[in-house]
Amino acid sequence: MRIREAAAGDAPAIRDIYNDAVANTTAIWNERLVDAADRAAWIEAHARAGRPVLVATTPDPTKSTSSTSFTAPTIPAIPAAPLVMAGFLSETPGVVLGYAAYGDWRAFDGYRLSVEHSVYVHAKARGHGVGTALLRALIERARVAGMHVMVAAISGDNAVSIRLHERHGFARVGRMPQVGMKFGRWLDLEIMQLTLDARERPEEPGRVQASAGSGADRARNSVSASTKDSR
Ligand SMILES: CC(C)(COP(=O)(O)OP(=O)(O)OC[C@H]1O[C@@H](n2cnc3c(N)ncnc32)[C@H](O)[C@@H]1OP(=O)(O)O)[C@@H](O)C(=O)NCCC(=O)NCCS
Repeated sequence: MRIREAAAGDAPAIRDIYNDAVANTTAIWNERLVDAADRAAWIEAHARAGRPVLVATTPDPTKSTSSTSFTAPTIPAIPAAPLVMAGFLSETPGVVLGYAAYGDWRAFDGYRLSVEHSVYVHAKARGHGVGTALLRALIERARVAGMHVMVAAISGDNAVSIRLHERHGFARVGRMPQVGMKFGRWLDLEIMQLTLDARERPEEPGRVQASAGSGADRARNSVSASTKDSR
């Protein structure tokens, strides 16, 4: 498995994964399907804001590793047999297995060191460690970017995602009953949080990319509305 920054060319694959989650899961409480242009704009908005969108793919020997702008520190190998069983993955190189991203938790200045993220894995690739690898890489990205808190807002019925986040140190900090609805029923929202460091003050000198007024922060402020949808 390879994890890299998403590019515009990944928009159709991300669209397919996203639309499947919209149509068939409570992972996202939207009901509107999107097209590839929508996802391309979403990728671009994240790039302009200095916010990551990572994709996990099957290995692609034709792509040199030097084109990877981000490499996850440790990426568990996906067992070969289940991948073949998944059919569409077979031996196709460079197939997008899933993606992960973060954006503003809340679009007010005081929340600028907190981010909300999401992770989506292709329905046929779930249960093989892709979500684990993506979340691990995204946490590392947030640390490098000087973020302090990652927030996961998870549908209360999504036991797999809650477990995934618990395994990565996220704490369950609150549950909001019946704040959402989908498929004709109420949905609870489970709020989980990972505090990334133990700094005593918010903006200690020396934090990478965390100082107020950095290029990334200025860009983020100017497009915060479009990246508020971290999904
Ligand atoms: C939730 C999701 C991202 C997890 O990714 P994944 O690649 O399937 O998960 P992994 O294979 O890395 O497994 C993560 C953990 O969940 C467990 N798990 C995975 N699939 C499971 C299943 N169907 N039933 C029970 N547990 C499951 C794994 O055993 C693992 O736990 P462990 O570390 O204790 O062994 C993925 O299933 C998905 O995209 N689901 C739909 C969208 C979604 O819910 N996104 C999250 C929104 S907050």
